[in-house]
Amino acid sequence: MDTRILSGELKENITYAAELLRRGEVVAMPTETVYGLAADAGSEAAVVKIFAAKGRPQDNPLIVHIADIRQLADICEDIPPQAYALAERFWPGPLTMVLKKSGSVCGAVTCGLDTVGVRMPAHDVAARLIRACGRPLAAPSANSSGRPSPTTAAHVLEDMAGKIPCIIDGGACSVGVESTVVDMRGETPVILRPGAVTEEMIAAVLGGAATDGAAEHGLQNGEQPRSPGMKYRHYAPRAELTLLEGSPEATAEKMRAICGEYDAALCFDDYAEELAKCCGAVFTLGESFDHREHARRLFAVLRDIDAHGAERVCVQSPRICGRNAATVNRLRRACGFKTVRCGEKQIIGVTGRSGSGKSEFCRELRAWGAEVLDADGIYKELLEDSAELNAAIAARFPSARSTSGIDRVKLAEIVFADSTERTDLNAITHAFVIREMKRRMAAAESGTVVLDVPLLFESGLDRVCTVTVGMICPDELLLRRITERDGIDEARARARLAAQNGTEYYDRRCDILLENSGDIAALKKKIKAFAAKYTM
Ligand code: TXA
Ligand code: MG
Repeated sequence: MDTRILSGELKENITYAAELLRRGEVVAMPTETVYGLAADAGSEAAVVKIFAAKGRPQDNPLIVHIADIRQLADICEDIPPQAYALAERFWPGPLTMVLKKSGSVCGAVTCGLDTVGVRMPAHDVAARLIRACGRPLAAPSANSSGRPSPTTAAHVLEDMAGKIPCIIDGGACSVGVESTVVDMRGETPVILRPGAVTEEMIAAVLGGAATDGAAEHGLQNGEQPRSPGMKYRHYAPRAELTLLEGSPEATAEKMRAICGEYDAALCFDDYAEELAKCCGAVFTLGESFDHREHARRLFAVLRDIDAHGAERVCVQSPRICGRNAATVNRLRRACGFKTVRCGEKQIIGVTGRSGSGKSEFCRELRAWGAEVLDADGIYKELLEDSAELNAAIAARFPSARSTSGIDRVKLAEIVFADSTERTDLNAITHAFVIREMKRRMAAAESGTVVLDVPLLFESGLDRVCTVTVGMICPDELLLRRITERDGIDEARARARLAAQNGTEYYDRRCDILLENSGDIAALKKKIKAFAAKYTM
């Protein structure tokens, strides 16, 4: 069979593929997560072809894809209101819900289970194809069973050439890892496979959520999987992986020490240049804070590593929390859950705009036994006490010198008037503050240290953290809080806010976002749930 790649932009290609599907053929389609291998979910004969093309075990059920919420009631029964609440919030998008199935889903899809996984993909091409076909489509990831999932049409071709009539090309997948699979049948939703919709995001809608232990640590001896997919070694390149877990700094240090023994390293961009000096080949996942990029690149880079022929690879893991859960889960599975922990302490970096609730966070974490290091406070202390810092500032800003050291009012005037001067001052003070924070971090007796740092990412302190938290708060609420707290008028408060990073900035970088919507009791509850999970 000749396998054609057809552009998803052309309407006639969608029409053609929909016709193939209605005739019982299998077609590869793009989704926002990974490419899927689709067939009519109501046709036993068509679905059987998916299993054959993938070489998929007969007991691993498929996800059914819909394009309209009304299709949900056709394929499921006893749908709880919680499922509609999640659909409302996350569909179309990377969330699959396991629900009780109805008679219209054929047995081959669910492998005889009485449940079915359903999702509404957000990719425009997938949605158009489902609509054009007029039926729900069963679709697993479009890789050969056991291989990394495909995130481009070219990856699909690598695995499926000669096995299916066509691949609809919709470009590179924007998410890059498969959807979150959540079992909706019990009281609390249970995540069976982590994805871009995290436990925290589901809990924010439903008030609670859990992740199945096997999804985090693999199946223990004799344990029965809640999802058949857990049994199989997925996402695996041919190479043997050693996964280093901890803060980016801690894992980088370990990597420097051992990577000479490996054929290749997979690391963050931040460390690529130096690791290239001691390791044969270096592959990268993106900058260390960039959780979305890690997910987008992961499967492609695992394929690249195989193409390179590396047999043993050491891997710098993204932080094992929050929005990294999906990437970390795929990496853990790829290495058979054999991981190396680097660093002992839990280092929680908290950041956000002024007034967003950082102090509330620190107060609560202190109550849980964490030691809190406040960057602004340490800066003030050093200005008072450190002759070395005062000398460094005086050398660069001689006009701010005074008999007792530094004239702070003068210094403030200089740096507020000129951004170059401000940058220079920051470079001096950041170095001192960072050094002092690292010293206190190492000396801390508590297993959990919180770093309260307004410029967490700009200072690079995010790299010593095992968790980064962004406190976010709507502009209007922040304005009210700043005007009340600091006694300034609205215009000045607005100007101050405009000079700070917005929510999007934190959303891109932080592992976990805690939203402060002004309801202090609700905020406390979120922080408590965080503390229960992340303090050591
Ligand atoms: O993002 C995705 O979900 C992609 C795209 C194509 O939509 N699809 C995907 O399908 O990843 P697949 O077949 O590679 O993974 C489906 C996972 C398997 O681990 C399977 O065991 C689990 O979902 N699953 C499916 N139906 C289930 C059910 N009824 N109960 C428990 N687990 C189920
Ligand atoms: Mg798969």
